[in-house]
Amino acid sequence: MRIGLLTGGGDCPGLNAAIRAVVKRGVAEHGCSVVGFRNGWQGVIDGNAVPLTRDDVSGILVNGGTMLGTDRCHPHNVPGGMEAVLETAQNERLDALICIGGDGTLHAASKVHDAGVPVVGIPKTIDNDVVGTDASIGFDTAVSIATEAIDRLHSTAESHNRVMVVELMGRHAGWIAVAAGIAGGADIILAPESPFDIDVIAKKIKHRHRYKDFSIVAVAEGAIPAEGSSWGPVESLDSRGNPIAGQIGHEVTRAIEEKTGFASRLTVLGYVQRGGTPTAADRLLATRFGVAAIDAAVAGNTGTFTGLRGEHVDMQPFSVMAGKTKFVPEDLLQTAWGL
Ligand code: F6P
Repeated sequence: MRIGLLTGGGDCPGLNAAIRAVVKRGVAEHGCSVVGFRNGWQGVIDGNAVPLTRDDVSGILVNGGTMLGTDRCHPHNVPGGMEAVLETAQNERLDALICIGGDGTLHAASKVHDAGVPVVGIPKTIDNDVVGTDASIGFDTAVSIATEAIDRLHSTAESHNRVMVVELMGRHAGWIAVAAGIAGGADIILAPESPFDIDVIAKKIKHRHRYKDFSIVAVAEGAIPAEGSSWGPVESLDSRGNPIAGQIGHEVTRAIEEKTGFASRLTVLGYVQRGGTPTAADRLLATRFGVAAIDAAVAGNTGTFTGLRGEHVDMQPFSVMAGKTKFVPEDLLQTAWGL
């Protein structure tokens, strides 16, 4: 069989581990030839393909990023995009296409599948917001990096008696802020799932500073003030409705300093969260997903994506995740607030 492979959306640690698993298993176990498309769906549209052999993927397990490159292009949003994808699939004689991506890339994958190209998806995103899987590739690494950052902020916060605000990625769901906030012992954790009142935050910090001289506040980039609260950040969304990186962190830091009188500083962790070598957990997850995806593609179980559910990886139809967001559950939010 001839299998196409792409990585789409924002990059993350673990993509190369998944590519390696697809190629190694595809070639050795199933006798497939694998062709990689450069820069996500854009590469499929352009017919920008490279053969992938076992040699090509040797040694990439530990590498961050993606050897194929990535892009946020979605063929159904590009004039003539779907037609170009179908043409490339025919020219390359693809029996199936494996797409490694977040909600946007996998949503596009489901549309391409419906248009007639058999597709299998693998969920990756540091945001961990893909429905139908307990974890997505990249999340564990991002949480480790963010936790280490919070650990490091503690000593400087304490030395200078400051409030340290750290803004973490997560536009729609606050998984990184909540997980790293809890693991790193942040005193306040703000996620999009529970809109906050800045006066309540200021009060909590003032209360804490009766017995401690510093505080750590973890803020997801998509965190929002509660409706009806007297304070709201200015211009926190860009023209596409996405949060502007650094904006909410900046406004929260300023408001805390104003309302508490405590010196406050902001760290925007940004793309550091997506860079570098994957953790062991992400290498393991990516390898399991890669193996399950190529097995599904060869078996003709397409129109599906890999999901970790409890101890097992299984395949589910794209309809489970397309157009949906996996939010942080209430009990985890309560844990974040309850300490
Ligand atoms: O991959 C998801 C994500 O990391 C979001 O948390 C973040 O807002 C977004 O990507 C920004 O990525 P880019 O600037 O590459 O579009």
